[in-house]
Amino acid sequence: MLQSNRFELDGNTAPELLGPGDYNALAEYFDRLRGAADRFGLALHAPFSGAAEARDPEARARCLSQWARPLSAPGWRRTFAFRDGVGAVVACLDLLGPELSAELHRARVSLAVEPAFQRRGLGERLVRHAIAFARDAELAWLDLWVFAHNEQALALYRKVGFVEIGRHRDQFRWRRMSIDDIAMAYRLDPHLPHRVFQTAPPQ
Ligand SMILES: CC(C)(COP(=O)(O)OP(=O)(O)OC[C@H]1O[C@@H](n2cnc3c(N)ncnc32)[C@H](O)[C@@H]1OP(=O)(O)O)[C@@H](O)C(=O)NCCC(=O)NCCS
Repeated sequence: MLQSNRFELDGNTAPELLGPGDYNALAEYFDRLRGAADRFGLALHAPFSGAAEARDPEARARCLSQWARPLSAPGWRRTFAFRDGVGAVVACLDLLGPELSAELHRARVSLAVEPAFQRRGLGERLVRHAIAFARDAELAWLDLWVFAHNEQALALYRKVGFVEIGRHRDQFRWRRMSIDDIAMAYRLDPHLPHRVFQTAPPQ
């Protein structure tokens, strides 16, 4: 059960980097998000496919292994979260490393804030924290995908400096609706490597 009345984060509290001892709290958060998705139609903002399997022992083992992986190896993951007054995770950002070594200069952002905790600045603080973390880690780009109709998320990402770099028409179909998916990127490193293979001029 949510404890929104006991939520007293001050504006300077940094999000917490989750570790193995936090996995159950994270799985409970994903369970609540799925419940909220059913009640409030949040599936319209994210496919939630990963959340469904959060309690699966294999998913747990995979997550712990990703958390332990160094940023120099494909498949790493870092999860930042805010908790309420009784320790429940209420907002969470996953930073996901790539599958291939050749993509190690990039990471993908995945974000959700529980409905009762939205519009309190937590989403923005999580994204800004992830950007600072990525900059310290000397990553060059952050990527994300967002449904084209997800106005609040688009507003947040644009506010912190993400720009649209592409769009997949009809990427998802859900309850007889077609959903476009927008690719956005945040550039951390202004310098590309000296030698660049490309077919179009740089922007
Ligand atoms: C998108 C989401 C993460 C925003 O989190 P949040 O904590 O509510 O956002 P914040 O309070 O930090 O707001 C930061 C900025 O986001 C934008 N924003 C957030 N909610 C908004 C809303 N309902 N309408 C318009 N803009 C909104 C605004 O630009 C806001 O800045 P402002 O306060 O100066 O106007 C949250 O709505 C959410 O979890 N939605 C469901 C899951 C989801 O869509 N995840 C993203 C998938 S890509």
